[in-house]
Order: sequence, then C-alpha cells, then structure tokens
Amino acid sequence: MIESRSSVRIQVPGRINLIGDHTDYTGGLVLPTTVDMFTTMLGNHTDENVWRLTSQTHGRALIPLDLDDVRSVEPQWARYPAGVLLALRSRGIRLRGFEGSVSTTLPVGAGLSSSAALEIATARVALDGSGDAQRDPPSFSEVDLAQICQHAEHIATGVPCGIMDQLSIVAGCAGSATLIDCSSLEVTHIPIPDQVRVEHSFITQRSLIGSEYAQRVAQCRKIEDTIGPLCSASMSDVERLESELLQRRARHVISENLRVRQFVDALSHGEYEHAGRLMVESHQSLAVDYQVSNQVMDDAVNSKLRETGVLGARMTGGGFGGCIVVLRRR
Ligand code: GLA
Repeated sequence: MIESRSSVRIQVPGRINLIGDHTDYTGGLVLPTTVDMFTTMLGNHTDENVWRLTSQTHGRALIPLDLDDVRSVEPQWARYPAGVLLALRSRGIRLRGFEGSVSTTLPVGAGLSSSAALEIATARVALDGSGDAQRDPPSFSEVDLAQICQHAEHIATGVPCGIMDQLSIVAGCAGSATLIDCSSLEVTHIPIPDQVRVEHSFITQRSLIGSEYAQRVAQCRKIEDTIGPLCSASMSDVERLESELLQRRARHVISENLRVRQFVDALSHGEYEHAGRLMVESHQSLAVDYQVSNQVMDDAVNSKLRETGVLGARMTGGGFGGCIVVLRRR
C-alpha cells in the first residue's frame, strides 16, 4: 500500500548557451543562461522501494530503488531519473519511494537540456525525501549536485558529456548568464544588460546518443596527450599536432575559450555589436573546425543575422541540430 507522507513540487528550468561550446569537457569556459521553460515533478514520497513516475507525454515508468543496470529501464526517458537515483544511492543517500508525475514545457531533443532538468528535478525530489524526523535531508553543494547528475547522464546515455548543462541549471539565476570555469568549477554571474535580449529558435530535433559527440571528446583527449591541457593551451601549441584534423579541433577549443572571455568583457562594457560578432565567429568555428553544425543550422543562423536588431546568432549546445541562440538589441 502506498503511504503518502508529504507532498512535493519541484520545478527546474532548461538552459541555453550564449557562447563557449565543446569546451566544458576539457576544462574550458562556458557562458550559459537559464531559459523560461521548466520541468516539473509533482507527487508524494512513499514507503515503497520503488519510484513510480508518469510522464504526461511519454508514458509510465517504474524504477526499483535497488536497480543496478540503468540501461535496462524502459521507457528510455526514465533512465535519467534512474541514473540519478543510482548515483545518489552509491553516495550513501537513503532513498525513499516516490509516486508522481513529470511534465515539461521544454522541447525534448532541442538542445535546451531537458535531460539535465529532469536529472536535477529527480535529485531535488530524492534529497527532499531522504531526511526524516531525526535528521535533515543531506545538503550537497551546487557542484556536488551537478556532478551527481552529470554522472547520471553518463550512465543513462553513454554520452561522455561535460558539466555545463547540469551546473548551469543548478547555479543559474534569471537575468544573468553563468560564467563557468570548467577546470576550477568556479561560477560567476554575469548580468545580462537591459539593452539586449537572449532568444532561441528551435531548428531540428537531435540526440547526442550515437552522434559524433563522443568522438569529439576522444579527439580532445588525443590532442591533450600531445600538447597538454587544452584549457591552458595557446594557438602556437596547435602546430605541434601532426594531424590536420586534430589541429582544427584544437583551434576551435582554444579560440572558443578566448571568445568567452572577450564576450563577457564586451557585454560588461556595453559593446553589444562586438559581442554579436563573437557569437558569429563561434558558430563559424564550430561549423568549420569542429564540424558539429549542419546546413540547416548554418542557414538558420544566416537568416537570423539578416533580421533587424539581431546582433549575433549561433548554434548552441552539442550541435548536430537543436536550437540556435540569438542576441537581439531591445
Ligand atoms: C552538450 C553537453 C555539454 C556540452 C555541450 C557542448 O550539451 O551535455 O556538456 O559539452 O554539449 O558545449
């Protein structure tokens, strides 16, 4: 019998990245901000040894709390909460059962981190239920929480993603962009001035599972075997790489880290046109050197750039489809 003890409602936003893509998994810089679209988890803790979740659009799932193989969970969306529960359990967190619903206003597969939002929502619900009359729920730092959810994403999907999505959602605040140094995991909030607005435009659905994302991560590891950490490398290091392909990949990462710093400076000094140009350069670098864009995304960026008031536009997130991010003058 399900025994209801408490009522829980957790709402978590998605994220969009202004600049700094494919830099997080080499300890580089990223500048995401949260979007006004949310994943909501609603329900009650129970004394069962299972989570029962119903997604309004993707069906019901049952996740046993003693689960060991996340990838055996069906339907597939439930692997994200399952990964989080497993990651929390392996950190010694006492898990309670839960029965509830999940809904989202975030488009799935659009590159706005609907999966990270689902992971963070799960972690918050699970932590909320792990306290009792004798003890408070354990408290995790923002970085801990993000790392637990990043690990969950790895085991749920096999995609070796960086920490940007999870940390930007946990640490983000409305009206600011979140500058993350993915080496030190230091977070700095950068106010988005009233003179500009960040918008997104959905282009095509995509999944990073089975994409070339993992290959890019592997190529960066190979680069680092020769020239050391990409986050502290400079353009002159690129010549030490023999492979022309690896030179292009390295050139993107090194120049993108520089662009993030320049973008933050431009934004803080009211140089919005410069900020916009940096976004366009970022897109070109991702398209030409990193090869994670495609014709549809390139066309979408170019057509946005012709609109009045648009300062800059670029693909955002992992690429291969998804959304473009736009900086517009108000
Ligand atoms: C995906 C990953 C992030 C990051 C971006 C690219 O969103 O989850 O960790 O690597 O791609 O910047």
